[in-house]
Amino acid sequence: MKENYIDLFVPGRLCIMGEHSDWAGRYRNVNNKIEKGYAIVTGIEEGIYAKASLSDKFVVKNTFDNNFFECEMDYEKLKKIAEDGGYWSYAAGVAACIKEQYNINGVEIIINKVTIPEKKGLSSSAAICVLVARAFNNLYNLHLNIIGEMNLAYLGEITTPSRCGKLDQACAFGKKPILMVFDGDKTEIHNIKVQKELYFVFADLNSHKDTIRILGDLNRSYPFGTSDMDKAVQLALGKKNKEIVLESIKCIENGDIEGFGKLMIKAQENFDQNVAPACPVELTSPILHKVLNDSYIKELSYGRKGVGSQGDGTVQVLAKDADSQKLLQEYFENKLGMKAYTLTLPATKPVKKAIIPVAGNGTRMFPITKCIKKAFLPVVDKGIIKPVILCLIEEIVKAGIEEVCLIIDAGDKKEYDKLFNEKISNEVVSKLSPELLEYESFIQQIGKKITYICQEEKLGLGHAVSLCEDFAGGDPVLLVLGDQLYKSFSNKSCTEQFLNSFAKNNKLSISVCEVPQEDVSKYGILCGKIEKNNDSFDVDKMVEKPNPIIAEEKYYTKYQNKKKYYAVFGEYILTDDVFKVLRKNIDNKKLENGEYQITSALDEVREKKGMVAFIPKGEMLDVGNVKAYQNTFIEMTK
Ligand code: UTP
Repeated sequence: MKENYIDLFVPGRLCIMGEHSDWAGRYRNVNNKIEKGYAIVTGIEEGIYAKASLSDKFVVKNTFDNNFFECEMDYEKLKKIAEDGGYWSYAAGVAACIKEQYNINGVEIIINKVTIPEKKGLSSSAAICVLVARAFNNLYNLHLNIIGEMNLAYLGEITTPSRCGKLDQACAFGKKPILMVFDGDKTEIHNIKVQKELYFVFADLNSHKDTIRILGDLNRSYPFGTSDMDKAVQLALGKKNKEIVLESIKCIENGDIEGFGKLMIKAQENFDQNVAPACPVELTSPILHKVLNDSYIKELSYGRKGVGSQGDGTVQVLAKDADSQKLLQEYFENKLGMKAYTLTLPATKPVKKAIIPVAGNGTRMFPITKCIKKAFLPVVDKGIIKPVILCLIEEIVKAGIEEVCLIIDAGDKKEYDKLFNEKISNEVVSKLSPELLEYESFIQQIGKKITYICQEEKLGLGHAVSLCEDFAGGDPVLLVLGDQLYKSFSNKSCTEQFLNSFAKNNKLSISVCEVPQEDVSKYGILCGKIEKNNDSFDVDKMVEKPNPIIAEEKYYTKYQNKKKYYAVFGEYILTDDVFKVLRKNIDNKKLENGEYQITSALDEVREKKGMVAFIPKGEMLDVGNVKAYQNTFIEMTK
């Protein structure tokens, strides 16, 4: 293995609702009377673990069975292997498409572990395809976002004899439910917010199903099927499926788990009544139905249905709670002798905590910082002159933050207490206008939400943030820098916009703003691809202060064939993983330029779990250097 390798993980995927609607929706290319396909899909816990590095050839090796595949990066050869089918055809199919589209060299992928059960409707083949696409994307900087990886994986898989739909590649998105909408060749992806945790169990029915036969029979009802049976199939996978899926999303987003369970049962009934008659040999599925009607399983679950192409392959059950999930798994394994897996989709936690590091020395603002901390520099906000830190906390509290942790220099505590906790004298009270008196009581309210942590040694932003691990307590937290303010161009503050975006994405997030190419060397730059009309993108690369010429080649974000450059805007939503990486770096004394940096920790989490860049409608106003502060002061007064 070469030294420069990257770690990769791609999970299997579970179609919770709307199986078969992906290929059915594709027929809109030829018959626009067919309804779009709607499906709820999620990545699962099980997946493929691998490492990859650059290579002259295309090589894939399994370390667990010593099976391996090697081929020159030759389009015709790879395509032939893919078309012939077999174990390595999926990987070869994707490599062939990559060669055709990008004409690049190969990669070496070492697969260390595969925990997805094969041929059980959980898309192990799609996961291999996504893994290959992701390895090429990351190693050759192809600038593909997740949808791009998914499309490449799909093109690779359909080069093989396997007839997958686009739904299978949803494993590219990781363990979170998404709504996929299939309209001809287009696929839309929408995030789903999970209000209350969902506890699934899925079990291998220990039987056999013939997916090729199922797909062959059902496809006969398309694109212009005219018999009553054809119409029933089209109605079930079209209009009825759409209604059930959209209703299910409402339940998931409102925390109505029982309602969602009922819809799973309704979806199975819809399938049994209208779709199964088109392929009775495979879809009558006696074993599946025996399990669906098992009284013990019914007692412990809200909903039950088949998985994937349906048939007697796999069953999925929505348990009533965590205990029921455990009991169901035991029952499947010990009483029914069926291998069972659990999948828990966590509720999207609202961000209620924020951390603000303000312990820095502020040397760029010397000598004023000899007597005034940067956080106390004045700005005029709506006619009131306030210290910067007050403006900042005011914005985040109004956006819904309930607890704020300030990381301060121990010597500054007195100043903060004076501002946020000490009562003003009666003399001052008697002289203040009613408006300012009211504002003073608001400051006291804010004071009750603040806790302080002292940073003894100035070991950098990463160090300052790591001190808040206990404060975060495993919850996602907002991080805002103490020397920046945000001016919104909409009726929602930048922080409120950002928190709303996180509620949908539920991933490590950074707010970003567009900067001209010539300025990229001043900022941390985030790269990805923005889908039309989107205000966020999946980050595929982060780089500190790149050279503008190199940035044009490598460090841009694609938007409708244009190259754009996005710099860190100053607000972050950190997940627990970030604190774990920071702690590891500190334990290993991994200093960069004498400090513990946050960027490298964020990048490590991005590689494993993904990261979202959000583009707020607004601008960032810096107070960290003289010129920026001058501008901020003027902008704030406007
Ligand atoms: P900066 O590096 O921009 O601020 O950190 P600084 O160190 O105060 O300023 P200069 O570079 O000396 O002029 C961004 C934010 O992180 C805090 C700073 O207070 C600032 O709000 N910070 C930085 C800490 O709290 N601790 C640190 O060790 C470093």
